[in-house]
Amino acid sequence: MNHGDLNFDTRAVHTGVSKDSQYGSATTPIYPTSTFIWKDSATTAGGFDYTRSGNPTRSAVEENIASLEGGTQCRATCTGMSAITATLHMFKPGDHIIASDDIYGGTYRLFAEVFTEMGFEFSFVKMRDLDATRAAIRPNTKCIWIETPSNPLMNLTDIAATVEIAKSAGAVTIADNTFLSPYLQRPMELGVDIVLHSTTKYLNGHSDVVGGAIVTRDEVNSEKISFIVNALGLACSPFDAWLVLRGVKTLGPRMEAHQKGAMALARMLEAHPAAETVYFPGLESHAQHELAKKQQFGFGAMMSFDVKGGRPAADHVFENAKLFSLAESLGGVESLFEYPELMSHSSMSVEARREAGITEKTIRVSVGIESPDDLVADMKNALDTIPA
Ligand SMILES: Cc1ncc(COP(=O)(O)O)c(C=O)c1O
Repeated sequence: MNHGDLNFDTRAVHTGVSKDSQYGSATTPIYPTSTFIWKDSATTAGGFDYTRSGNPTRSAVEENIASLEGGTQCRATCTGMSAITATLHMFKPGDHIIASDDIYGGTYRLFAEVFTEMGFEFSFVKMRDLDATRAAIRPNTKCIWIETPSNPLMNLTDIAATVEIAKSAGAVTIADNTFLSPYLQRPMELGVDIVLHSTTKYLNGHSDVVGGAIVTRDEVNSEKISFIVNALGLACSPFDAWLVLRGVKTLGPRMEAHQKGAMALARMLEAHPAAETVYFPGLESHAQHELAKKQQFGFGAMMSFDVKGGRPAADHVFENAKLFSLAESLGGVESLFEYPELMSHSSMSVEARREAGITEKTIRVSVGIESPDDLVADMKNALDTIPA
């Protein structure tokens, strides 16, 4: 069967999974082996020789994610950060990369501290402003790094327009699609060269694994990424690959449930006097709502809001909203709060955070798949009871 003809939800369930010709198990087995026995000195038994380089369980999830993103190859890695690290190894010292000033804090730290030290050049600009991106282009610009919506303030980058800017500069585009997943945004359909994920988030969806994925569609990039992931030893374990494959099968239904709760919560927050600003592209009040409608297939379930009263008020909300746990990460079935000031973005300098718009008031929410009514009531109660 040609899986390319199947719809998204069908591919999520079926693509890559049939790997057990011996017993016909309905799910892909975990192949917990470091090595594979050869038939003779020139022939492997089934196309695999060593698990760092390739493993049937990992190739199952890779086939699945490549198909969902619309690429031709995926390499599943041990963390989202290792996926990002692998793509940076496509470039060399002296190359210039443009990224947004409010990308994920760990990515910012990797760029600003590790790769800058190695001689790479970065410009961190407000990429929602295409002129700022254009103005940042240099003769040595080799890559434009897209993360949209951004973390935690949900600013959008116009993907198609940014791809055009990159093309005219001869630069590659790489998109971190973690926040929306391929169910809600497919950057390759808008011209992006390479898409990556922290599969820790929506693709796995159950907060029980850390992992990453890099999707390519051009032969040269695919070969480079395969070589780098193998050479640096970044691949994920068969067990983690199996967990992500288990999770990804329900991506569509989960994203629908996530979005329902997020929209209900955003509407309540927008009307609540304790929430000063709500950052959610699904609201008509979001400055880039129209762009979200144009380039996304939904608004997702990540949002932030500024709570009136700063840190004491934020602490009150963390303590009193019982269905939302305060924890790093996002994209799991359970709702989470996150405090960028002291958690995900603490590796940025205070100046960089303020410049990006992150303050002590900012609370990020990853809306889970619980009943929207319960989530709204719980959050509302926490906001209603903030001491004056
Ligand atoms: C947008 C984004 N990209 C990449 C990462 C890094 O992924 P990981 O924690 O799996 O290494 C994160 C982690 O929160 C993230 O939010």
